[in-house]
Amino acid sequence: MAALNTAAIRAMKGKEKISMLTAYDYTSAVLFDRAGVDMLLVGDSLGMVMHGRPDTVSVTLDEMILHTRAVVAGTERAMVVSDLPFMTYERSVDNALKNAARLVQKSGVRAVKLEGPHYEQVKALTAAGIPVVGHIGLTPQRAAEFGGFKVQGRTTEAALDLLEQARRLQDAGCFSIVIECVPSALGEMITEALEIPTIGIGAGPGCDGQVLVMHDMLGLFDRFVPKFVKRFAELGQEFQNVAAEYSREVKNGVFPGPEHCFSMAPEELEKLKK
Ligand code: KIV
Repeated sequence: MAALNTAAIRAMKGKEKISMLTAYDYTSAVLFDRAGVDMLLVGDSLGMVMHGRPDTVSVTLDEMILHTRAVVAGTERAMVVSDLPFMTYERSVDNALKNAARLVQKSGVRAVKLEGPHYEQVKALTAAGIPVVGHIGLTPQRAAEFGGFKVQGRTTEAALDLLEQARRLQDAGCFSIVIECVPSALGEMITEALEIPTIGIGAGPGCDGQVLVMHDMLGLFDRFVPKFVKRFAELGQEFQNVAAEYSREVKNGVFPGPEHCFSMAPEELEKLKK
């Protein structure tokens, strides 16, 4: 099965919607890849859903490398993209190049995502052969600056600013852009203005593709559920029920049953007992 690359993802614009999910480990990568999800994002949201932190700013490059390597190992067809975490690219182009190179070389990922209007970094990374996905609108690494997780681009001025950012990220070399938490009309307007695909999360159905955090989509995370999330299953409840049943069976001596146990030759057992 051929792996999807940047050209294949770009070619989907206007022809086929792009499905993207976050993944943080080998097993979920295998399952999502088999399910035909086009892109797997090792998002720095892993700080919240895998490590229980309040936000994404404390996620380190080493943590991204560890999780990304696992996702890459489980993926055959999907295009894997990994987030550059907070403060690994904003300070300078050199910093971005050094950290992106480390992420790519240590994890095996081929493309990275960075948040915000960092055009020079995008230019340098793409020139160095590292494909980049942009991310505009609500950029969680800067949520404190926005006063929390709030819808962006609701005024004409803010919407025009996001449109301009999208155009400039495209010109800088991004092969796709994630648009997070903006009015649907703006998501559609940006999508129509660009030649590269947009992937929306809370940006309406007009985007070229959609992304969700896997724990939200599977119903595994309920610390907060944003309006844009559709819970396609309630696996959290299912996990809990199954774990409770396991615990009951252990306590009642029902598990393990004979079918889960190993035997030894009776004569060996006799010798052992002597
Ligand atoms: O970190 C992440 O999971 C993301 C998505 C929300 C797009 O950036």
